Amino acid sequence: MHHTYASLKSIAAYIPPHCVSNTDFEKIIDTSDEWITERTGIKTRYFADASQTTSDLAYEAGKVAIQRAGLTPQDIDIVIVSTLSGDYLSMPSTACLTSFKLGIENKPAFDISAACSGFIYLLGLAKSFIESKTYKNILIIGAERISSILDFTDRNTCVLFGDGAGACVIGATNDPKEAILEVDICANGRYENLLYTPRQCTTFPQLTPKPPKRESVVHMEGKEIFKLAVKTLTQNVNEILAKHQLSAQDVNFFVPHQANLRIINAVGKQLNFTPEQIVLTVQKYSNTSAASIPMAINDIYENSRLKYGDLMLLDAFGGGLTWGSALVRFALKN
Ligand code: ACO
Repeated sequence: MHHTYASLKSIAAYIPPHCVSNTDFEKIIDTSDEWITERTGIKTRYFADASQTTSDLAYEAGKVAIQRAGLTPQDIDIVIVSTLSGDYLSMPSTACLTSFKLGIENKPAFDISAACSGFIYLLGLAKSFIESKTYKNILIIGAERISSILDFTDRNTCVLFGDGAGACVIGATNDPKEAILEVDICANGRYENLLYTPRQCTTFPQLTPKPPKRESVVHMEGKEIFKLAVKTLTQNVNEILAKHQLSAQDVNFFVPHQANLRIINAVGKQLNFTPEQIVLTVQKYSNTSAASIPMAINDIYENSRLKYGDLMLLDAFGGGLTWGSALVRFALKN
């Protein structure tokens, strides 16, 4: 009897229209292209148009992912979106709106919240749904319009993030050479104060002496996150490779979450990946949270670097804190 594996059948991304350079930020905050480049590697980021919502970005990526998988929207059994900047505060989910825009109705759709590790969490969910034969074709999308939750007066955070979406179809295969071999995900709420978006809670007026604080933008303790990110990302990779008796040399591409070039270089060096193995898009897209890994995979795909059967090691870290890694073979033939 054949084993059923989950398989990454396609990849696609959407890059929003407004390219914003570091020098554009010099006009609104006390910063410089030199500071941002040196500390983060970031040169540009893309922001959505005022008229675009997160589900619009997700729709664009999702549409192409379905086409590249050789499917139609009607073939998709479920849509799952990871976002920290959804269309609405809590409902409807961005996945519901994205599905409808794609022409998918009366199928399950929901969002998950795992910040920058969202895409790894999505892969974990999709893998389980495929291996348990619950669904045949799953559309997973990381989509962010982070520009809508940034404080453009806070130089510590606003230069670091960008908008975008990345999507793929996860289907079934009997061929281990097309399989998602492993997905490891983890979280620890102990670190809630390092990276968060406060919520403006209302309280029944008679119970509270003061009105609530009006803020709901990203807050981050950059230095603490930096150290934890390097440690966790390195550990993730060592664990997942050891579990499969693989070494860094066995992997075609190392695709880390694109938050900061210095983090990626530190991790890459500790793990002995060559520059050719390390996928980098942080310079042009900045940190697009849940969209960052699929946008990076799409980048090497569209540049004809990624080939059918290539083994990718994905590695993410984000608010929650959340983290995770995955060993994935690329299963799109062409
Ligand atoms: N322009 C100019 N100066 C700045 C800017 C800016 N945009 N931002 C901060 N500074 C200043 C600070 O105010 C500080 O000044 P001070 O010494 O007078 O107080 C100085 O630069 C040094 O700041 P540090 O925090 O020491 O700078 P650091 O080298 O740590 O770099 C950074 C900051 C880029 C945020 C870094 O810590 C980092 O990348 N951390 C990890 C962040 C991350 O990866 N987050 C995402 C992971 S999770 C997710 O993606 C949701």
